[in-house]
Amino acid sequence: MTFDRLSQALDAPGTRPLPSPVAHVYPNDSRINEKGRLEIGGCDVLELAREFGTPSYVFAEKDLWMRAEAVMGAFSVRADNFEVLYASKAFPCTPSLRIFARTGLSCDVASGGEMRLALAAGFEAERIYMHGNNKTEDELKFALSEGVGHIIIDSFDEINRLARLAQPGQRVLLRVTPGIQPDTHIKISTGQVDSKFGIPLAQLPVAVEKCAAAGLDLRGLHGHIGSQVFDLDVYETLAEVLLSAGDFPVVNMGGGFAAAYTRHQHPPTAAQYADAMLKSLPSNVKVLCEPGRSLVANAGVTLYTVGTVKDVPLPTGSRKYVAVDGGMADNIRPMLYDATYEAEIADRFGDSTACRVVGMHCESGDILVENAALEDPRVNDVLVMPATGAYGHAMASNYAVVRRPPVVFCRDGDARAVVRRETYDDMTVRELE
Ligand code: LLP
Repeated sequence: MTFDRLSQALDAPGTRPLPSPVAHVYPNDSRINEKGRLEIGGCDVLELAREFGTPSYVFAEKDLWMRAEAVMGAFSVRADNFEVLYASKAFPCTPSLRIFARTGLSCDVASGGEMRLALAAGFEAERIYMHGNNKTEDELKFALSEGVGHIIIDSFDEINRLARLAQPGQRVLLRVTPGIQPDTHIKISTGQVDSKFGIPLAQLPVAVEKCAAAGLDLRGLHGHIGSQVFDLDVYETLAEVLLSAGDFPVVNMGGGFAAAYTRHQHPPTAAQYADAMLKSLPSNVKVLCEPGRSLVANAGVTLYTVGTVKDVPLPTGSRKYVAVDGGMADNIRPMLYDATYEAEIADRFGDSTACRVVGMHCESGDILVENAALEDPRVNDVLVMPATGAYGHAMASNYAVVRRPPVVFCRDGDARAVVRRETYDDMTVRELE
């Protein structure tokens, strides 16, 4: 795929680039059009809001291709022997998985459901790695019957289960707990000693023996230290820990490559992550990594409609509440991880008015952006929240019996819903009485 049309579109008369402090938070292939409105993949987002309704998850399709190609390129120029696995939990959706399957990525699945999606999207079973700290017997049987490439073993109980279920020679990796805690939110840290994930390093020799006794082909070790990791040094440390833990042909360094959620965040590039991971790995070791959010977060935005704007007098001044027609059901991340985001009025980028952007759910904690600066927000404005492409659609719920939003892909001025909005019939379809 080439992107010559992308540069032509950028030069279209009357269009201008996004304001530079926030441009990197928005999808590649975004601009302000001649009407002063945000345009994604050549599509005017006000028209998208009219056509698909709000809230909607909107993606620049080319951005997905570009990020996948960038990470594949970063490793291919640095390593002969590597695989980049897309951590599909970040945006488990067949149309996006199809793109990633075609760019040569492999796939990390963390459940039987994700495995089904990956297969449906065209990943050969061979290129699928199955994760999970507590895979059920049914999930293991399904993965094995489909010919899953590798199972990432997370416990002694799982070795016992595979001893019963797997054919001799099934390829596996052992996930270890490396004892590394990156500087990120505790709820998305996984490498610390006190963790439900992985096998403690001290127990590794026994686990290796048990794998051999079970007839499993133990290819190597896996370590995933957490998410939204900006610090490259921890990957160097992880490589050293995994290397010194045993002599194996494969090392899987996990995911965690950071995304830019706000103007202040400037994550390392794929090339910088690759350098850090590869620095101390000998060239005869095959390196695997598993980026999730960095491939999808900034490719997507959420469109909302502003319903109410309220000035609340406080002892010191006042607060402006801007309420939109979505919230914690379509993006639980602010509530769950104190995650911070940007927001703009889609046809009026600017920051004249300090406000708090809140959702429509009956919960005080349903706050999407605690400290937003919007340009004179008004009722019926379309509000855009960038960097919602990862773990938005993935973790959406029907709380308050809201219908989950559609996923819209935009490219060269064409927009299509690749996942439709739920209907009210969908809300009752599972009820039996
Ligand atoms: N590999 C493994 C084994 C993982 O558990 C994860 C994420 C990844 C890779 C991908 O991590 P990423 O590159 O996307 O950071 N819901 C949370 C994130 C939980 C991630 C769990 N595991 C969030 O919204 O931030």
